[in-house]
Amino acid sequence: MKKTIIKTARISLLTALVISNISWSSLSDEENNPPILTLNGFTFRDLNKNGKLDIYEDTRLSIHERAVDLVKKMTDEEKANFLMGTGMPGFDGIKPVIGAIEGRVPGAAGGTYEIKRLGIPAIIVADGPAGLRIKPIRKDDKNTYYCTAFPVGTALASTWNEALIEKVGKAMGNEVKEYGVDVLLAPALNIHRNPLCGRNFEYYSEDPLVSGKIASAMVKGIQSNGVGTSIKHFAANNQETNRLSINEHISERAMREIYLKGFEIAVKESNPWTVMSSYNLINGTYTSARKDLLTEILRNEWGFKGIVMTDWFGGFAGAESIMAGSSNVTQQLSAGNDLLMPGIEAQKKAILENINNKNLSKEVVDKNVERILELVLKSPIMENYKYSNKPNLKENAQITRQAAAEGMILLKNDKGVLPFTNKKGKIAVFGVTSYDFISGGTGSGDVNEAYTVSLLDGLKNSGYSIDNELKAAYTPFVAKVKDAEMESRKKEGFLALPKRLPELKLDKEEVDKHAVSSELAIITIGRNSGEGGDRKVDNDFNLAQDEVELINNVSEAFHAKGKKVVVILNIGGVIETASWKDKVDAILLSWQPGQEGGNSVADVFSGKVNPSGKLTMTFPIKYEDTPSAKNWLGTPADDPKNVTYEEGVYVGYRYYNTFNVKPSYEFGFGNSYTTFDYSDIKLSSSTFNSSITVSVTVKNTGKTAGKEVVQLYLSAPSKSIDKPKEELKAFAKTKDLKPGESQTLKLTLSPKDLASFIENQNAWIAEAGTYKVMTGASSLDIKKSVEFTVPNEITVEKVKKAFEQETPIKELKQ
Ligand code: BGC
Repeated sequence: MKKTIIKTARISLLTALVISNISWSSLSDEENNPPILTLNGFTFRDLNKNGKLDIYEDTRLSIHERAVDLVKKMTDEEKANFLMGTGMPGFDGIKPVIGAIEGRVPGAAGGTYEIKRLGIPAIIVADGPAGLRIKPIRKDDKNTYYCTAFPVGTALASTWNEALIEKVGKAMGNEVKEYGVDVLLAPALNIHRNPLCGRNFEYYSEDPLVSGKIASAMVKGIQSNGVGTSIKHFAANNQETNRLSINEHISERAMREIYLKGFEIAVKESNPWTVMSSYNLINGTYTSARKDLLTEILRNEWGFKGIVMTDWFGGFAGAESIMAGSSNVTQQLSAGNDLLMPGIEAQKKAILENINNKNLSKEVVDKNVERILELVLKSPIMENYKYSNKPNLKENAQITRQAAAEGMILLKNDKGVLPFTNKKGKIAVFGVTSYDFISGGTGSGDVNEAYTVSLLDGLKNSGYSIDNELKAAYTPFVAKVKDAEMESRKKEGFLALPKRLPELKLDKEEVDKHAVSSELAIITIGRNSGEGGDRKVDNDFNLAQDEVELINNVSEAFHAKGKKVVVILNIGGVIETASWKDKVDAILLSWQPGQEGGNSVADVFSGKVNPSGKLTMTFPIKYEDTPSAKNWLGTPADDPKNVTYEEGVYVGYRYYNTFNVKPSYEFGFGNSYTTFDYSDIKLSSSTFNSSITVSVTVKNTGKTAGKEVVQLYLSAPSKSIDKPKEELKAFAKTKDLKPGESQTLKLTLSPKDLASFIENQNAWIAEAGTYKVMTGASSLDIKKSVEFTVPNEITVEKVKKAFEQETPIKELKQ
């Protein structure tokens, strides 16, 4: 394990420097305003100042035509510079390529090379995905540059509301554009293969359809501002331990059906400007060097038109090889990975050498350069967009408040304890996290927001009375443990993993006292994690002893007085719930809900918002039930190098439902303050032709207005193909239905929705036979079903073989 820690620490230093110092020289005013040429009444910018209209300056032509012209004008040296980012100033042993002064947007993650003589500016890329990550304070500048911390990816996906996510994306993109950034390094849509992945909070789901649909909505929203996105990390970046060098052995079927599917949906539905390849290897080759992945599948099969960039230092086998500059640039560029990020001097040297000795063909170089040029030509900086540095922070705070509330999941609500409407009686607020609410995880997915509303403040803002004596006991304790945690993290650097704060020990008499003086107890359980490390089972997935004691003591004391206990889960990933859920009356899963967190919780708590979030992953009874637990992190255990995905396509509910493993809370689950009835399920036809439409009517049968997420699962014949018992194939969310109101939802299935990937035929195939369509409120709560038949087997799509395995994988079968 020691080795792993050292590697992580060194990379953290690298990334810390990227975030804090990276820079680009900005264009001077004169350069920003090149001479104007007039032709037939049209005006053009004479970017290269040669007094004539060059093809690439002619904005009537397509971006592609202009890029092709530009490539012809570039020298090999300029091309080599252009194929990588402008580096990371100040890191020992790595000379920055270009621009060592603090640039246009301090704190951004990187940028491209500027070709002054041709008037081609540097574009700037910044993280993502919970909001824009830039430095909030700048040297010698009185202004601040705070960004909105939106709910983390998992929280957003839990809304199952594509229109709302698009609205969030639009708000996020407004900050990107108005702070002068061209591409947001988001959204992140890796699959939750295992609950312990330290970056699951950034990702959406264990299911590829949810991931793909939510990512598409996010991309559409962000890009509606005229800025770009980078869907990441392509692909199968499912663990943080040894992330720069882990070799993942995965079958082609699992790749295509589980780990690529979400990306396929996002590429086809939303046209992201860029894709970020991942750090890991798949079947022996870095993803950034896999032609099957980046060219065959992404471009030829799916029709992707943008650029692929590496993740930061992707394709190096760890810190030592970064220092030595020993990545295989030829293989990466030839595979279709256009841009190497953040870019180091040794890569430029290698590119030039390989151009000269013809290892790297002119066609490859020109194609990659052309694609990067197309990106630059459509970026706001190319138009010299006058960004205001004043995004709509006020409006965006309202959007994050709304989105967070809609992503919250009511896991339990015995006897309707929530909504809690008594604003006179006091609420006893327990748990350190109540006072130090967690808006989002750490690492590059963190955001520099101006504030985070704590649970306590959120409740107060909504007019609740708080047990101030209890607050007085917590406040100094929280300040002390928080300071100590921050200090220890500071010492470890940017990627230091957050540590759980210990709970305040309260003796029995004290808790009893609060049970007398207060009407209700709230306990917040908090979890934080981040880039560079995975979570642990003890004291993280499982509750720590001090948390168990807190739940026990508070529940006993309050229940003895006939009062209720509500648990708020302010977490970024799945935890164990089965052993303690019966002890409390209500559980609200708030996730890490962004900067308005406390207000969003209060909105649900008070009933201002009726919860309508549903789980996008399974909460198992115990960690060991997880299908990937057996080979999580890989071998050898003390410094994993190889990991085999033996569970194959049986990820998440596909496993639990097929193998009848009972979860604590199943995929798709979430309660409401009202009830819904499903009726009138109908098919457009009883046999499948080129598509089939399912309609179902949902009625609000309770007393409160609310929304329902209707999930459509398909159970396929599985005669010759080993298939999960059912798979999510479509979903839709109703509008806010008033009591008694109904809505009919229509969901359409395409041939590919019926198909599985059959490796020995290199094809997506839908078997002939009877298919069962099941609509319901969760993967285990099916309300209405109907069947259709496929008369003859359908070969939906033939593809080229990909992901050749090094060694055969023994995959789980039924
Ligand atoms: C992360 C990416 C991020 C990049 C730039 C990497 O360490 O894996 O998600 O976009 O850094 O900050």
